[in-house]
Amino acid sequence: MTSDISTFRSSPSLAHLHPTDRSPQRIAVLPGDGIGKDVTAEAVKVLEAVADRYALPLELVQLDWDADRYLTTGETLPEGALDDFRDYFSAIFIGAYGDPRVPDMKHAADILLGIRFGLDLYINFRPIKLYDPHLCPLKGKGAKDIDFVVFRENTEGAYVGIGGNFKKGTPDEVAVQEEIHTRKGVERIIRAAFEYAVDHGRSKVCMADKANVMQYGHDLWTRCFAEVAEEYPAIETQHFFVDALTMQLIKAPERFEVIVTNNMFGDIITDLSAALQGGLGVATSGNIHPGRTSMFEPVHGSAPKYAGTGRANPVAAILSAGLMLDFLGHEQPAERVEEAVRAALREGQTTVDLGGQLTTSQVGDHLAQAVSGAVTVG
Ligand code: NAD
Ligand code: IPM
Ligand code: MN
Repeated sequence: MTSDISTFRSSPSLAHLHPTDRSPQRIAVLPGDGIGKDVTAEAVKVLEAVADRYALPLELVQLDWDADRYLTTGETLPEGALDDFRDYFSAIFIGAYGDPRVPDMKHAADILLGIRFGLDLYINFRPIKLYDPHLCPLKGKGAKDIDFVVFRENTEGAYVGIGGNFKKGTPDEVAVQEEIHTRKGVERIIRAAFEYAVDHGRSKVCMADKANVMQYGHDLWTRCFAEVAEEYPAIETQHFFVDALTMQLIKAPERFEVIVTNNMFGDIITDLSAALQGGLGVATSGNIHPGRTSMFEPVHGSAPKYAGTGRANPVAAILSAGLMLDFLGHEQPAERVEEAVRAALREGQTTVDLGGQLTTSQVGDHLAQAVSGAVTVG
C-alpha cells in the first residue's frame, strides 16, 4: 500500500484515532534508497507473514521518501510528518538512505536525523549477537563470547550540525564543527543503559569516551556515569577510552555486556562490532524513546553498488523488524523471527556476503515461509 502522509493528515477516517488508541498498530515504512528498497521489501514480506500467523493488528503504510522524490520535488521530510508519526503511528521502519546523486546527503539528513532528533529518539539501541560461530572473523569465539548491546546517544554529540565556514574555498578557510553534550542528554542515555542491564540480567555497563582529550564534553560523561552508577550498586562499571575500546572489542569481546557512549563513537564502534557477528548484513538497530513512536532500521547504509543485484543481505532489516515487533509488545512473534534467522544462518541459507548462494528475495521468501510455520524452525 502506498500513501502520502499528507493524505493521511487530512483523512477524516483518522478522526477516531487518538494517541492512546493504537489498535491497529500503524507502521510507517520508508524503504529509502539503494539496497534500502531491496531489504525493506523482504522485511515487509516477513512482517506480513508473521502478522498473519499470529493475527497481529499491524497496518503498514509505505512512504516513498527517497532520493528520486527529493530530486524531482525538492521535498525531504514533509511538513507535519513528525506530528503525524507521533499521533498516528506506533513505529517507523527505515531501509537505508544515501544516493550518489545527493552528495551532501540533504534528504537523508532531513529524514533520518530529522526523525531521530524530531521525535527525540534518544536511545540508539544496537545489539551485537553472534548467531552462529562460523560468522565470526575472530579465532575461537562462539556465541557466548559475542553478546553485548550498545546504547548510542542519538540526539546530540557531533551530530547536531552546529558550525560553519569562514573564507570557504580559499587557502585560509576555517571550518568549525561543534559537538554538544547536555546534562539531561548524557544522563538519560547512561540511565537507560543501566536500566537495561538490570532488566536483562546483565552484570556490567561499560562507558566509552575520550575524556583524556575532550576535557569538557566528555568530562561531563565521566561525572554523569559515576553518579548514575551509584544508583545501581549491583552493576559493575567498566570504562575505556574509545581507542582502547576498539582494540578490546577485537581482543576480548567477551568482556562486554552493555556499552554506552556518545553519538559518533557509537556509530563507529557498532560498524566494528557488526563485523564480529558476520558484518553489516546482520546488524540491527532501534531508535527509541520509551513509550513513544520509535524507529527501527538496519545499521548498514544504502550500498548503492549492490542495489537491485540480489546481493544485499536482508537479514539486518528483517531482524530490525523483529526488534520493532518486540518494542510493539509482540514478544513471541519477535522471537520466531529471530529463531528463523538463526536457523537460516546456521544452515547457510544466506546471501553471498555470508557465504551462501541465495538472492535477497530468496532469503526473504525462505524466512517468510519459516515464520509462517511452513518450514520447521529450530
Ligand atoms: P554501507 O553500509 O552502505 O556499505 C558498506 C559495505 O558494507 C558495502 O559495500 C557492502 O560490502 C557491505 N554491506 C552493507 N550492507 C550490506 C547488506 N545488507 N548486505 C551485504 N553487504 C552489505 O556503507 P557506505 O558504503 O559507507 O555508505 C553508502 C551510503 O549509505 C552513503 O550514502 C552513506 O552515507 C549511507 N549510509 C546510510 C545509513 C543509513 O541510512 N542508516 C547508514 C550508513 C551509511
Ligand atoms: C548509521 C549511519 C548514519 C549515522 C548516517 C547515515 C547519518 O551511519 O545509522 O549508523 O551516522 O548515524
Ligand atoms: Mn553508521
